[in-house]
Amino acid sequence: MKIIGPFEQLLSMENMPLRGPIKDEECVVLENAGVLIEHGRVVRVGTFDRLLRDYPTARVEWIEEAAVAVPGLVDAHTHLCFAGSRAMDYCMRMAGKSYQEIAKAGGGILSSVRFTRAASGQELAEGISRRLHFLNTIGVTTCEIKSGYALDKEGELKMLRAIKAVQRRTAAHVVPTFLGAHTCPPEFQDKKAYLQFLIEEVLPVVKEEGLSGRVDIFVEDIAFSVEEARFYLQQAAAKGFHITVHADQFTPGGARLAVELKAQSADHLEASAQEDIAALAASDTVAVVLPGASLGLGIPFAPTRRLLDAGCIVAVASDWNPGSAPMGDLLVQTALLGIYEKLSSAELWAAITYRAAHALGLGQEVGRLQAGFWCDLAVFPTNDHREIWYAQGRMKPWGVWARGERLV
Ligand code: NIG
Ligand code: FE
Repeated sequence: MKIIGPFEQLLSMENMPLRGPIKDEECVVLENAGVLIEHGRVVRVGTFDRLLRDYPTARVEWIEEAAVAVPGLVDAHTHLCFAGSRAMDYCMRMAGKSYQEIAKAGGGILSSVRFTRAASGQELAEGISRRLHFLNTIGVTTCEIKSGYALDKEGELKMLRAIKAVQRRTAAHVVPTFLGAHTCPPEFQDKKAYLQFLIEEVLPVVKEEGLSGRVDIFVEDIAFSVEEARFYLQQAAAKGFHITVHADQFTPGGARLAVELKAQSADHLEASAQEDIAALAASDTVAVVLPGASLGLGIPFAPTRRLLDAGCIVAVASDWNPGSAPMGDLLVQTALLGIYEKLSSAELWAAITYRAAHALGLGQEVGRLQAGFWCDLAVFPTNDHREIWYAQGRMKPWGVWARGERLV
């Protein structure tokens, strides 16, 4: 057994609500706290002195400075397995070209596809490790990572195997998602034929090799229609995959499909209308907003305040990818979303901890500091948790633990 502490403040998130608005007073803040752990999991959270007294034989990992501990952060939507750069796309967007125009001209996702197909599995794994390490330094201990930049059988499997290789050598929790349906590759004229190929040729191997338990699709006119996605996702669900949807980024439709199919999450939602919000609120599908994609495209944020007020389960993720969201700094992005969308500090923490964990089906494993959960911690150099948002993401943790082990 080991005790980590003392922390001037510890945000346990225990018993905080799964959906809807949260007032700052509802945020559970323990003072002079510590965490007792065994085999990487939390046994008890409580007053540090009390833990010392009750468990005198436990080893103590002393925190010498003023520190605020929060549950390790959960980034529930990333595309950080890729090769190459899209700096050129970014400059074109700054000069006024739209994301869709660049995509239709053969840039966009397909340009990352060319780079990623040419990369070796090892090169991809190195890129994933480097980016995951950066996320670890900002406190992320659970990270979803999608395939979707190869769009052929061997390349998509290469991506998932690279993700798996990184997963094996990190204490962080890595959740791979199959996004073969990111867009239609040039080899296929017919989108339906491409989806049929994924269903028949690729999904069975993904399943057999245990490479991913989740399937995602980009629902948008530059990718797949609602009807195409419905067919594909139903087939994936029938094979036992959990589903998630890139929904309502530019046009609505995807979020309502996600609700209809009981998806784990509907992600993006920049273009969601009130009826889409109402549908999400009446479901268990998590609304994952991606401020990094708004910042990378120069478009408005998803209507996060309205999603919360309607009663949705709202998570925030980085969407880190080479195209629309190149920054990858979940803390900066969440802080900026908070001030523009008028979110409470408690709503921001919930969105990148236990609510995000719920989007990945890990709501009983990570995202809260309570008995039975993994001991994942992000520890910030301050004595007041409000200072963290006040610094707008500039304050980084000085220590990060995953499964009870120091990661950073
Ligand atoms: O979530 N919108 C679709 N997919 C990614 C972007 C992919 C890319 O531009 O490379 C997203 O924003
Ligand atoms: Fe995305």
